[in-house]
This record gives sequence, C-alpha cells and structure tokens, in this order.
Amino acid sequence: MSLALLERYRDRLPINPETPIITLGEGDTPLVRSQRLERELSCGELYFKLEGCNPTGSFKDRGMVMAVAKALEMGSNAIMCASTGNTSASAAAYGARFSLETMVIVPKRDVAAGKLAQAMACGARVVSVEGNFDEALQIVRALTEKYPITLVNSLNPFRLEGQKTAAYEIIDSLGGPPDYLCIPVGNAGNITAYWNGFSEYKREGGSGVSPRMMGFQAEGSAPIVTGRVVPTPKTVASAIRIGNPASWQKALIARDESGGLIDAVSDEQILEAYFMLAKCEGIFGEPASASSFAGLLKMARAGQDFTDKKVVCVITGTGLK
Ligand code: F0G
Repeated sequence: MSLALLERYRDRLPINPETPIITLGEGDTPLVRSQRLERELSCGELYFKLEGCNPTGSFKDRGMVMAVAKALEMGSNAIMCASTGNTSASAAAYGARFSLETMVIVPKRDVAAGKLAQAMACGARVVSVEGNFDEALQIVRALTEKYPITLVNSLNPFRLEGQKTAAYEIIDSLGGPPDYLCIPVGNAGNITAYWNGFSEYKREGGSGVSPRMMGFQAEGSAPIVTGRVVPTPKTVASAIRIGNPASWQKALIARDESGGLIDAVSDEQILEAYFMLAKCEGIFGEPASASSFAGLLKMARAGQDFTDKKVVCVITGTGLK
C-alpha cells in the first residue's frame, strides 16, 4: 500500500509529532500523457493531472486532509466551509471519517446535484443561501470568527499547504517541473498552492526553472482578468462561478513571479474542451476542469508555440458529479 499523503510529504508540510497522520487515500493521482491532443496542438509533451481520481472526486481532498489533521490536532469539534460543491463534498467526507461535525453553506442555485448528494450522504449539515458563493463565504467567515468552528475554505492556510503536494507529484513524475502549468481559477487557492510548491522546490535548489502559471477563469466570472469584482458571476462551469476570489492577490503573485498569465475562456470554449478531452483522450472532467485545456487550446490557436515545451493541464475534478 502506498504511504498516506501526509506521511509521504511530511517534511514539506506543517506536521509535528502531535499532528495525526490521517488519510482517505488522497493524492498520488495519475499524470497521463496525451495520446492525440499534443500532436493536434503541436505541443512537445502534454500531460493531464487527473485530480478527479481523489477519493471525493476533486483536488480538494489534498488540502482537506491537511486542514482536518490540524483541526484534530487543535482539538476542534466542528468544521465549516462555503462551497460551489466540491469543497463541501470533501469537508463532509473527512468530517464524517474523523468525527467532526460538518456544516456547509452553498449557493441555492446551480450546485451540481452529485456534489450535494455527497455532502448529505456523509451527514453534513447543508444550508443553501439565496446568493452566490462570495456571499456564502462572507457568512462562513463571520460565523467561524464568532464560534469555535474551524473554517476549511482555502483561507485556511493548511488547505493550501496540502494542495501544494500536487506540484511535488508532477515534479516527481516528470523528473522536474514542466514549462507550463494550465489550471482553472475560481477562488484562486489552487493556483496559489501549486505556485507555492513549485517555488519551494526551486528555493531548495531543485531546479533553476519553474513553470509559467497559466490560470483560466470563465469569461462571465473573470474578476482577476478584468480587475473588477463581478457581483453576479455567470458561467456553465459552476465550480468556478466566483466573482471575488479570496486568494486574488496571491494569484497575481503566482502569475507575475512565474511570468505566466491569467486569462478568460468563454463557456463555448470550455464546453468544446470538455468534449475534446472526453472524445480524444477518454478523460471526463467537469466543465470547470476543462477550462485549463480550453486555455491551452486558446493560446495554441492564437499562434503560441509549444513545440519543444512540456505542458501540464490540471483536470481538477471528475465529470461524474
Ligand atoms: N476546479 C474545480 C473542479 C473546483 O471545484 C474548483 C473550486 C476549482 C477548479 C477552482 O479552484 O477555487 O482553488 O481556484 N471549487 C471550490 C468549491 C470553490 O467550493 O468547491 P480554486
């Protein structure tokens, strides 16, 4: 059996002798090389990091296992998050397994039914609010400041620490960092976490290069691209329907330090990428996940040359929800 994520990356994580090494089998997800799309895009090497293979079907489990381990270490009895769906499913699963009361606040409309089903089946208290993710997050911030409940959104620094392990896995699989990392951006925690992982590796002398971080928001929910909060975000990719990302500034740092970009892709481009991934590669991610590949496609079609480059697209969650 492979080691638990917290055990495997123990030296790089905020783990001390009091931290319980818990697991639900997260991490160690496949990095799959493209069969066809890399040729179509004239890309040197193209890989997909299949984060939908985590136990609750998204990358959130990497951060949740760390956040829940720290909550247990600190003697917390309850955890809470706002969510467009995947974070709530992950919090509910880890909460159930490690006996923490779990409360999740979700927007009333347009959260995928499969994600809500996971949270409810795991016994979380699910509260739907009239309003969007950003408003749900405000409520959660206020409640967790007032009551002894651990916030497990990516504002919790342990979430980002856990999520950076994906960058290490990519480095381990490729023998070094790729040239480009394409990633969906919603609340902007994940792009921040990957950048933390890649920059730590570089600081430790692992490699002189680090990837350009290419983040993609959906056009109707692209506050970082336009520089303005979006009061009513819209997109078919419900997981990234976020108008005021909590890690906005950190995402700008990731973009600028890496020489990358944060751009928008339209719903049409997201859906085209979603079907191409499934039809050409057999990879079925959720629409939000396809925005990473949609962004790469957009850049390649605009004439950007990837011929001798190694590119990784993060497929953040399964299409089965
Ligand atoms: N992809 C998927 C499948 C997601 O669920 C999310 C975020 C993202 C990408 C964006 O990641 O927020 O770190 O920039 N989902 C959160 C949730 C907001 O509540 O499940 P991010």
